[in-house]
Amino acid sequence: MSGYRDPSLPVAERVEDLLARMSLQQKVGQVMQADAQGDLDDLVTRQQVGSLLHVPPERMRAAIDLAAGTELGIPLLLADDCIHGHSFWPGATIFGTQLATACSWNPANAERMARVTAVEATSTGFKWTFSPVLCIARDLRWGRVDETFGEDPLLIGDLATAMIRGYQGDDLAESTAMLATAKHFAGYSETQGGRDASEADISRRKLRSWFTPPFERAARAGSATFMLGYQAMDGVPITVNHWLLDDVLKGEWGFDGVLVTDWDNVGRLVWEQKVCADYAEAAARALNAGNDLVMTTPGFYDGAQEAVERGLLDEAVLDAAVARVLTLKFSLGLFEDPAGPDPARQAEVIGCADHRTAALEIARESLVLLANPPTGPGQAPLLPLAAGGGALAVIGPNADDPAAMTGDWAGGSGQCSWLGPDYRSPHTVTVLDGLREVAADKGWQVGHAAGCGIVRAVPHPDGPVGPDGQPRWPIIEPIPADAARLDEAATLARESDVVVLVLGDSILLVGEARSTATLELQGGQVELWARVLDEGKPVVLVLANSKPLVLPEHLLARTAAVVEAFNPGDAGGRAIAELIFGDIEPSGRLPISFPRHVGQQPTYYNQIRGQHGERYADLTQAPAFAFGHGLSYSRVEYADLVLAEDELGVDGTVRASVRVTNTGQRPVVETVQVYVRDLVTSLTWADKELKAYRRVRLEPGESASVDFAVPVADCTIVDADARRVVEAGDFELLAGSSSRDEDLLVASFRVSASADDRRLP
Ligand code: NOJ
Repeated sequence: MSGYRDPSLPVAERVEDLLARMSLQQKVGQVMQADAQGDLDDLVTRQQVGSLLHVPPERMRAAIDLAAGTELGIPLLLADDCIHGHSFWPGATIFGTQLATACSWNPANAERMARVTAVEATSTGFKWTFSPVLCIARDLRWGRVDETFGEDPLLIGDLATAMIRGYQGDDLAESTAMLATAKHFAGYSETQGGRDASEADISRRKLRSWFTPPFERAARAGSATFMLGYQAMDGVPITVNHWLLDDVLKGEWGFDGVLVTDWDNVGRLVWEQKVCADYAEAAARALNAGNDLVMTTPGFYDGAQEAVERGLLDEAVLDAAVARVLTLKFSLGLFEDPAGPDPARQAEVIGCADHRTAALEIARESLVLLANPPTGPGQAPLLPLAAGGGALAVIGPNADDPAAMTGDWAGGSGQCSWLGPDYRSPHTVTVLDGLREVAADKGWQVGHAAGCGIVRAVPHPDGPVGPDGQPRWPIIEPIPADAARLDEAATLARESDVVVLVLGDSILLVGEARSTATLELQGGQVELWARVLDEGKPVVLVLANSKPLVLPEHLLARTAAVVEAFNPGDAGGRAIAELIFGDIEPSGRLPISFPRHVGQQPTYYNQIRGQHGERYADLTQAPAFAFGHGLSYSRVEYADLVLAEDELGVDGTVRASVRVTNTGQRPVVETVQVYVRDLVTSLTWADKELKAYRRVRLEPGESASVDFAVPVADCTIVDADARRVVEAGDFELLAGSSSRDEDLLVASFRVSASADDRRLP
């Protein structure tokens, strides 16, 4: 074995040797990622693309063999969107969405879900997942809020780095290691009006303040790849944003992995954003800006070659991108073992009992009890339901819909051709299934009625293809309430003792290009909710939805309890049932705020100070449910917030402790949250920001002193030159159960001036 095939040589030498043997065409092919649902002979044998995505199970082996048969035998990087489980593989374990999992405020859950996903996906031949998403949720009308970890940069960074650890492990050459992707770099979620991939109105300072910090952590945590978003900022499409891609990501943060574009980003420069006249120009600009791998732009193959011939692209720039792709392949050990599907291993790990247990345990920690007031003066709340029996009505369009559990990028959600829209994972437990399982042991009889529909897709009135030749998405329209179905549900409610009403949204309202103009419950759901309440039985509302929705306050006021599940994954229905019956304690907290009205957008908690008044003329600005909110079946009291020192230098650490006491009758897992408020800043800044949190388990009557250490170095703002600095002066440390001021104790501290003090005079 010689040259690049010799595993005893250092990777850099192997890369250099291989690069020297490659023709211009082979180099261009190597930096292309193609859709494996296309013509494999053409893509792998002729163009010799470096990577394939969305490989249908039956094509995996053929693709690997075709690559092995090419002149240089360079193995393929095989990638898929395994974003909450290997969810396009029949029978794989499907976890809750990132948003659902973020409700646990527990990075260990994110890591565990990623590890299981990597174990399952690598057994099928994929070595690269396009996950995690580090976008920060802003306007909730955006269709991809479910893919985020919510609205806080600290929480996003913690969960994302945990997920990266879970996918990649310590050694990329290990057989179950999978490349992670930090995406979508950066600013994609700052939409206009929630419209997907619209121009983002975002300055460099704002990017540095809230959007890039989680990405910086991902780069420093060793995420092997990064993926772009789609948006332009200040007129610069992200694909050609040299400053962000090259100067910041690769230069400042030292990222030396592979930067992949998103789907046809390079083509979009030509046909959509219209900033390049042709594919040669687009290819040159994209590579010159720092992209290494170009996802699904067929015109790149000829365009990049032409760019070199026309002198738009220096071949050395192309070589650098090829070298990064090859380095990754050598690091994964693909030249020695191109991995590939392993049926014996699949039989052992795909959807195995251990993995399903992981999905259940994570779902249990991810449910948020939003409301559970006393049922009357001096009365206990409705939840948990007592054992001892009765008739339980399980009503609502999402009560028995597996897609409401598994959400987007899973099963039949539409991105893959090999699982049809009716695919149902054998492991998915709906709320109805879960309640049937759990209630049976407790003497409850379960009845079911869907009661109404949500939405349906109708063809676009102007035809399926637009003037630019691009497909037009169908229109999604509400399914009107149907009197007979409402009557059936009302009758069931009347004949029952308790109603569990499962509402939410539908997969048709979620995802790319599926932003919504409203956040209301669609179809007949509001009417159904009102009809069920009119029957006078206590109603537990369970929300199975992709993102926060607007819940009519007059109906909420009459509802006995509200549980937010988001899309909780395969085991969600079981976990919800256990929570309703008190087999587990509710411990989830919202990683995202709930609006009262769509017109309140954006509602995130860490907004910048400064506006006339504090409310709309016709509505409060307060969210319906705040970031950090979540109840338990017990009560927790906070007291004695104490700081070890209240005068600190910029190198100091704020050491605080707060006493939490479980004053109720049941155990709790309380998430103690710590925020910092910088009282005077040289530039406008967020009124408070999450700096730490801890989950604490307390038995009834138990009290604990919870300690925190917040480095002063974390109490920063971003200055006018987009530099992150600590400004001397007065601060408050706030500790409590949610981001609402009413829920927080306050202690003051002062940071003394130093050379770093950049406060303007
Ligand atoms: C487009 C999406 O924006 C991205 O998140 C995904 O990973 C790629 N397509 C590949 O499917």
